[in-house]
Amino acid sequence: MITSVKGTRDLLPPDTRVWNRVEAAARDVFALYGFDEIRTPVLESTELFVRSVGESSDIVHKEMYTFTDRGDRSVTLRPENTAGVARAYVEHSLAQAGRPWKLYYMGPQFRYERPQKGRYREFRQIGAEVLGDPTAVMDAEVIVMLFDFLGRLGFTGLSVSINSVGTEATRPAYVEAVRTFFSSNEKTLGEDDRRRLADNPLRVLDSKDPAVKQLVASETFPKMVDLLPTLDPASDAHHRELKALLVASKVTFKEDPLLVRGLDYYTRTVFEVTAEGLGAQNALLGGGRYDKLISDLGGPKTPGIGFAIGEDRLVDVLPEPFRKKALEGMRAIAVVPVGSADMPDAWGIARLLRGAGLPVDFHSGHRGVGQALKSAEKSGAVIAVLVGQEEGLRGTVVVKTLATRSQEELPREGLAAVLQARL
Ligand code: HAM
Repeated sequence: MITSVKGTRDLLPPDTRVWNRVEAAARDVFALYGFDEIRTPVLESTELFVRSVGESSDIVHKEMYTFTDRGDRSVTLRPENTAGVARAYVEHSLAQAGRPWKLYYMGPQFRYERPQKGRYREFRQIGAEVLGDPTAVMDAEVIVMLFDFLGRLGFTGLSVSINSVGTEATRPAYVEAVRTFFSSNEKTLGEDDRRRLADNPLRVLDSKDPAVKQLVASETFPKMVDLLPTLDPASDAHHRELKALLVASKVTFKEDPLLVRGLDYYTRTVFEVTAEGLGAQNALLGGGRYDKLISDLGGPKTPGIGFAIGEDRLVDVLPEPFRKKALEGMRAIAVVPVGSADMPDAWGIARLLRGAGLPVDFHSGHRGVGQALKSAEKSGAVIAVLVGQEEGLRGTVVVKTLATRSQEELPREGLAAVLQARL
């Protein structure tokens, strides 16, 4: 038997109904905020992610699906979508429009991680990006939009963790402070964390090693936000403005001075929402500002801010009423030909009903009418229309209510309207 590749999975009905409802809600809410959809390729040049997500990130360092294609190019299955959006912005000179771009996307992403609950090698994200607005107002706007969307799904009591990672102006001083801190604790660091410390000390903050985590959590561990007022007053003001806007919008937030996020492109604002019920992989979504990414990719200086939600995790912790509603199937009408000679006639009636906007579950009846009715009921039909020759001559059909098996003969004329009333 050939099975799906480790870390990937099939989404089957009726669960796909839930996914579709979630995506429909995202499209609705994002449209209210003026966002349009962008679709970028799943496959990108490897260099794109090396230059954006960054060599020091775990993603680029060890999680990418990278291979050489038949034309000898190094390509990668996208591990995230911000880089692709930024590339498209540069490639299509979107800056020339002279306005901010508000874009959203949804689709599969690939990371070679150890699969476990809520963590897959192919997973799906719903994300949004604003390109071309540097203000904290836009940071607040995307977070408010996000909470609006989560509210639409029925989530309550969520809180967003926020931090500022400063800019290039602050980074060297902070990196130095972190390095100094660890230099007296070098022995505690394992091989991975030593590499991180050498490549990008900020990455050590994401260490999963309990001993290192304990060090990072200690009072004396340096915090970027403490350096901002003196080293980077503009980032400090940006951060304070964001907090004021979140308070004004009644979004519950927590300041987390240790939140740095695992991608290298962030500047100033970073944020994350975690959810109980996701186990160890409790990050439901993450995002932040990336004011240098577009210029680093060769585009004009363009600030950016956005987020991506892990859709697999979102569906996992979806409030029950939303899930239940989404799982309800359409109440369909089964159309069943009594004999094989009745097929054309039955087809005609199915067409007619569908033309009137009624959902029809057509059965070939190849195993007999009895079996057709059983299977119609299993697939969620509530009414069956039996199309036979005798009734055909009288211009009628037999209509059966599947729950009660009661039946009556009804004229074909005006049938759609009568059935509509009974669905
Ligand atoms: P990220 O934090 O790497 O950020 O991923 C965002 C979300 O994707 C995570 O919070 C998580 O829910 C989900 N996710 C990540 N890896 C997996 C996995 N292996 N299995 C299931 N879910 C996963 C980004 O990707 C950035 N592009 C977000 C962003 C947009 N920043 C600015 N704009």
